[in-house]
Amino acid sequence: MSMDRIGVYTSGGDAPGMNACVRAVVRTAINNGIKVTGIRRGYEGMIEDDMVNMTSRSVANILQLGGTILKTARCEEFRTPEGRSKAMENLKARGIEALVCIGGNGSYAGALALSQEYGIPCIGIPGTIDNDLYGTDFTIGYDTAINTALDAIDKIRDTADSHNRVFIVEVMGRDAGFIGLDVGIAGGAEGIVIPEDRDDVEKIMRHFNRGDKRSKSFSIIIVAEGDEIGGSQELTERLRTLHPDLDIRTTVLGHIQRGGSPTARDRILASRLGYEAVHGLMKGLKDVAVGIINGSPNYTPFDTAITNTKSVNYELVRMAEVLAR
Ligand code: F6P
Repeated sequence: MSMDRIGVYTSGGDAPGMNACVRAVVRTAINNGIKVTGIRRGYEGMIEDDMVNMTSRSVANILQLGGTILKTARCEEFRTPEGRSKAMENLKARGIEALVCIGGNGSYAGALALSQEYGIPCIGIPGTIDNDLYGTDFTIGYDTAINTALDAIDKIRDTADSHNRVFIVEVMGRDAGFIGLDVGIAGGAEGIVIPEDRDDVEKIMRHFNRGDKRSKSFSIIIVAEGDEIGGSQELTERLRTLHPDLDIRTTVLGHIQRGGSPTARDRILASRLGYEAVHGLMKGLKDVAVGIINGSPNYTPFDTAITNTKSVNYELVRMAEVLAR
């Protein structure tokens, strides 16, 4: 499809690697004779006409930066038909013929709504630390986030060991346990509590009920914020009630997981996805999310990507239990 100008934006929670992706979109487009408008603050900027024309030079020296130079937002107004109508008027006035949306499920849903109502072709790029998007093995920002969390957990282990304490460490992930599971395995956690595992709290309790705690006298328990138990505070209270003898501390890693310079893996993934997204639009694809599955680019229709859930690998859950004993 021939296009004169496309728009690119980042939306929802920021993720390390979004800048590398913006750079790839801008440079791939310009290299193919397509002009690019950067839409600032996601859908908010689309509604408020906060947009800027981009050149290859405007994305120089951003590959290694965390956050997003385009800024991001979670926008309620875009959920309304009136909000989308304002956004579309601004896009038309600026001659934007197609959109590249870097974000998560909610951002894809916004792009799909706009396309269904006004026919503007959109392509989504998975950008979220949660790794919870269907249609790609990994999302932009996930690798950096788990390495940031792992660094913190290694440090917590030192103090846990010195004091013989139990540390309950809460990681992000909204409704998904990808961060919790991978960080738990890589950090050698004695327990991992994630939304996908219904028996995890029971397993933790069994761990502490076992009279023979052998030579292990301290423990790291990773809890995903979205677990049905409600997060680290609730688990701490339960454990304290059942085992008043334990010296327990709770740490919520929080937004530290969203910042920082992207890892090499995230930079490469973001670059590939940005490049493939522009090529997808040039081939006439629309209303799809681009991903990498088993090393190859893959395009999943937005409605399939939005309605399906990517699952953690349960074999890894079992493996983590065995290796923690
Ligand atoms: O989706 C990314 C994420 O960091 C989730 O892990 C977390 O639940 C959420 O965003 C936090 O959102 P906010 O920064 O808006 O509080």
